[in-house]
Amino acid sequence: MDSIDKSKLPTHVAIIMDGNGRWAKRRGLPRVRGHQQGAETVREVVRTTRQIGIPWLTLYAFSMENWKRSDLEVRALMNLLEQFLKDELEEMTENGIRLKAIGRLEKLPTSTRKLLFETMDKTSQGEDMTLTLALSYGGRQEILDAVRKIAVSVEKKKIQPKEIDHRLLVNALYQPEMPDPDLLIRTSGEYRISNFLLWQIAYTEIYITSTLWPDFTREEYLKAIAEFQNRERRFGAAD
Ligand code: FPP
Repeated sequence: MDSIDKSKLPTHVAIIMDGNGRWAKRRGLPRVRGHQQGAETVREVVRTTRQIGIPWLTLYAFSMENWKRSDLEVRALMNLLEQFLKDELEEMTENGIRLKAIGRLEKLPTSTRKLLFETMDKTSQGEDMTLTLALSYGGRQEILDAVRKIAVSVEKKKIQPKEIDHRLLVNALYQPEMPDPDLLIRTSGEYRISNFLLWQIAYTEIYITSTLWPDFTREEYLKAIAEFQNRERRFGAAD
C-alpha cells in the first residue's frame, strides 16, 4: 500500500479477468473450479479498490461470446454471480459501494436478472465507489445499441443528424455517467481487448500480466496501480 501515491490514483480501473479455465486445467480440476477461485479474487479486488479509494471499478464478468460456452459452464457462472450478489450485499451497503451492470441484461436468466436489479436497487445510495459488472456485454454491441437509440431519436425528429456529437453518443451508451477507464488490467497474458469497453478505452493505459485471474493477488493489483502512476499520459497531445 505504501507504493501507492494517493494523490495520483486512477479514477476508474477496468479489468478483463482471464485465465480461470487454465488455472483449473493446470490442476486437473473442472473449469468451474477455476471460476469459483476467480470469484474469490473478485471479492478481494473489490475490497482493495474500496480501501485504496478508487471510485470506479468495472469487471468483465461475462462477455457476449461467453454465451457460446456449454450450458453447464454458463449455468455455473450465473450461479457464482448470484452467490456473489447475495454474499456481498451487506459489505457493499456498509462500505458505500453502488452496484451497476452494463450489457444486454435482458438475455440473463430471470433469477439472475431479478437478483441483479434488486442488488442494484439496494445499493443505489452508495456514494464511495461504483462497482460495474459487464454482463452479457460486448463493446461493439454497446455501440450498436447506442446508434439504434440515436437513430430512433432522429426518426422521431427529436434530433438532427448534424447534432450527433461525442456527448450525444456517450449519453446513449449503457452507463453514460461512467468516466472512461484510466487503467485497464488484463490477466493471463493475452494481448487482446476482446470486445471490452471499445468506445471508452481510447486513451486508457493498459497493464497486462501473465498471472491467471485466480492467482491475481492484492500485491499484484497494487503493483499495477503503482506502474500506472509512473506512466506519462498525454492523451494524444505532443510534449
Ligand atoms: C475468463 O476465464 C473468465 C470468465 C469467462 C468469467 C469471469 C468470471 C469470474 C471471475 C467468476 C464469477 C464472477 C463474479 C463477478 C462473481 P476463462 O474461462 O476464459 O479462462 P481460460 O481463458 O483460461 O479458459
